[in-house]
Amino acid sequence: MNIFPAGIAEGVAFCNRVIERKKLASHIERTIHTILLAPRRYGKTSLIRHVLNENNFTYEWVDFLSVTTDEQVEDKIAKAGKALLFKLSSDLVKLTKNTAKFVQSMSPEFNFGALGQSITLHLTSHQKTPIDQMLLEVDAYAQKTGQKAVWVFDEFQQISELSNSHSLEALIRHAVERSKAITYVFSGSNRHLLQDMFSKSTRPLYRLCQAMPIQRIAAQEYEAFLGNAATTRWGTSLEKNAIDTITHLTECHPFYVNGLCSDLWEKTTLPQAEEVLTQWTQYIETHKGMIVSDIVSLPLNQKKVIQALAESPTTEPYAHEFCLKTKLPSGSVRRALEYLLKKDIVYIDEQGCYKLLDPAIQHYLRMH
Ligand SMILES: Nc1ncnc2c1ncn2[C@@H]1O[C@H](COP(=O)(O)OP(=O)(O)OP(=O)(O)O)[C@@H](O)[C@H]1O
Ligand SMILES: [Mg+2]
Repeated sequence: MNIFPAGIAEGVAFCNRVIERKKLASHIERTIHTILLAPRRYGKTSLIRHVLNENNFTYEWVDFLSVTTDEQVEDKIAKAGKALLFKLSSDLVKLTKNTAKFVQSMSPEFNFGALGQSITLHLTSHQKTPIDQMLLEVDAYAQKTGQKAVWVFDEFQQISELSNSHSLEALIRHAVERSKAITYVFSGSNRHLLQDMFSKSTRPLYRLCQAMPIQRIAAQEYEAFLGNAATTRWGTSLEKNAIDTITHLTECHPFYVNGLCSDLWEKTTLPQAEEVLTQWTQYIETHKGMIVSDIVSLPLNQKKVIQALAESPTTEPYAHEFCLKTKLPSGSVRRALEYLLKKDIVYIDEQGCYKLLDPAIQHYLRMH
């Protein structure tokens, strides 16, 4: 199994997140609907999956990344609703009886075939069931059968891109705020769009959920994790200096820790700190297309601010000195920064320092 995947981290690839795991599990147990907020590739999806699996929660996962129409949203939720009903039904006969009583929008049908008994759920009428009704019926069924479950709506910001988003969001709110047995967990890779959906008073989902910000994994956590992974690979841990170089260069950004370590762990001998740096530079060269894709099409002023921040992160981006570096008046720096912060290209760390969020972009710009 790959210890440093580019995609979802699970099993031995999953590092720490002890506090976040406890908190999310407790939200789910108490039916506190939650939205996970973090910049791209910080580990939201991995965290949710890990919590669902380690607690054996019954759940259904809907990924909205590919939706482009309302019908696709309705379809995805209807299909997932059926799947969740099946998971909540321990035996087929119970499902037949109970769904007839509580789930009016679907009727079960038994089939007897070579592989034994199976059951299909049909939508009762040809008219589409509104999604709020479908969601509430599944919740009513879970309540009646004394069970709890979880709906995960991932890449949920895509709904806000649809022309009819307001009414879809209103239907979802209607179901979520009445839900008693099912907890909703929302997440997505565009923090800015998601935040707008849930925190603007004009939007239907306003204040529906508790926000759970996800930070990077702390360097001390990575220290132990990488030490163990090295022992598994080479029979001995990496030198502290080498581990520090990994966490320093990648700034503990989980996606880049995995990208760099995936290459390092292919080496036959234990890498030293200098090799870590060489590998990081090579990693960035190899992946530069992906790394700079977010910034190549930005307006010139924003690029100037990015370049200046890559070279010198600052606590005073509007001061004369920084503006000189950008060769822009402070008003232009301010406008550029507002946008870059909103887009998670720049972030302000705990010390109030403005920095590029992506350590690979930063390294690339420093090198070129
Ligand atoms: N707890 C963890 N331990 C180790 N690696 C992790 C952990 N969480 C995430 N990662 C790694 O970080 C990267 C991003 O993970 P994931 O896809 O879960 O993040 P995400 O926030 O859902 O991303 P996106 O914003 O693109 O949806 C992956 O390479 C994944 O393997
Ligand atoms: Mg994700």
